[in-house]
Amino acid sequence: MTKIRITETVLRDAHQSLLATRMKTEEMIPIIEKLDKVGYNSLEMWGGATFDSCLRFLDEDPWERLRIIRKSAKNTKLQMLLRGQNILGYKHYADDVVSEFVKKSIYNGIDIIRIFDALNDVRNLETAVKSTLKEGGHAQCALSYTTSPAHNIEYYVKKAKDMESLGANSICIKDMSGILTPYVAYELVKELKNTVKVPIQLHTHATSGIASMTYLKAIEAGVDVVDTAISPLALGTSQPPTEPLVASLKNTEYDTGLDLELLNEIAEYFNPIRDKYIKSGLINPKVLGVNAKTLIYQVPGGMLSNLISQLESQNKLDKFDDVLKEVPKVREELGFPPLVTPMSQMVGTQAVFNVITEERYKMIPKEIKDYVKGLYGQSTVPINENIKEKIIGNDEVIKGRPADLIKPQLEGFKEEMKEYLEQEEDVLSYALFPQVAMNFFKKRWAKKYEIESTLYNEKEKTHPI
Ligand code: CO
Repeated sequence: MTKIRITETVLRDAHQSLLATRMKTEEMIPIIEKLDKVGYNSLEMWGGATFDSCLRFLDEDPWERLRIIRKSAKNTKLQMLLRGQNILGYKHYADDVVSEFVKKSIYNGIDIIRIFDALNDVRNLETAVKSTLKEGGHAQCALSYTTSPAHNIEYYVKKAKDMESLGANSICIKDMSGILTPYVAYELVKELKNTVKVPIQLHTHATSGIASMTYLKAIEAGVDVVDTAISPLALGTSQPPTEPLVASLKNTEYDTGLDLELLNEIAEYFNPIRDKYIKSGLINPKVLGVNAKTLIYQVPGGMLSNLISQLESQNKLDKFDDVLKEVPKVREELGFPPLVTPMSQMVGTQAVFNVITEERYKMIPKEIKDYVKGLYGQSTVPINENIKEKIIGNDEVIKGRPADLIKPQLEGFKEEMKEYLEQEEDVLSYALFPQVAMNFFKKRWAKKYEIESTLYNEKEKTHPI
């Protein structure tokens, strides 16, 4: 019997997609033990935007969240998302930072690391994969799924083979925009199952309304694991809901074996949390609906809303349609990068510039220049020569692995923040989000000082800590 396994995303992607990653650790704690009883393939609970959000908005130490959840999830594998050489940030880091981050993540409780690169440049996955394997973790490599004339089944199969040779323990098709249609998914999964030996997992978003159909066809094609979210935080820009899939597969050869009653108890727990965030406005009812535009423009929902706010701030919202038409042009000229962070923001910004300055490539963001120089990795197909010259003139394009140009950084970061260091992990928080982490450290220090001063023993003139 082919049991389908399920990764539950409620503690990471679901709330990242629906409520700007603001769920607090204290809202997660009471339900962890129950989640741990379900028998999920894994609980995705860290990485992505959770780390930044903890430090920036929640005044929480992300490492502490990981340790707390690890403590009560005794049986279930904990999973995180990591953007290859970018780790959780937006630029490339030196190998020593990547290795140290992976090491500490596994040390503090992560089992599975899903590693992807915005350009599907496998060289950008190397260090993270090797470090994960070295530390005894499960290295899952993810294919950033997108559509373009260059992104056909052969392309993905070749990438998957490269990932397997690199040592990936499993491969994920990561459809961040929710544009993978059911029959394409069927064909893609079939081909991957025919070519690679490691398990195949599928991750998608319900944004465009097709996700559950896509899962069903992928399951028929032999996919091993799919990502779902418990119903109160499912659908819309989040994952398809867990319970309907479990029910649909019941008593079939794909039966997940998960207990619907137990899942229902978990849903009951998250219902008031959903209501609370709808009431507070963090969950915008708009993102809960079906965004079929995504299927037409093939751009992620988040990118559409970014474009709108960029144009709004310039008072140029009337140019929205022009920008939407410009996006695919820019993307083609730049060699069809997948529209995932940070490429989606970069392509979007260039398209906005091209339209509002009324001259294409008159204004070029530094990130686009770096991308054309090869500093993000290799483009899917070669970048249009004329456009390349327009953007970087005769500047050299690097052909090697971008991180080879970056000298070790860990010691430097440590030096910059050492007066606030309370645990070795703090150096990594600082490396990824220097400003935000520094603010967090300062607040943490102030809090501690406040406690110390209230405990100050007037008579003996001593601090207890
Ligand atoms: Co996702």
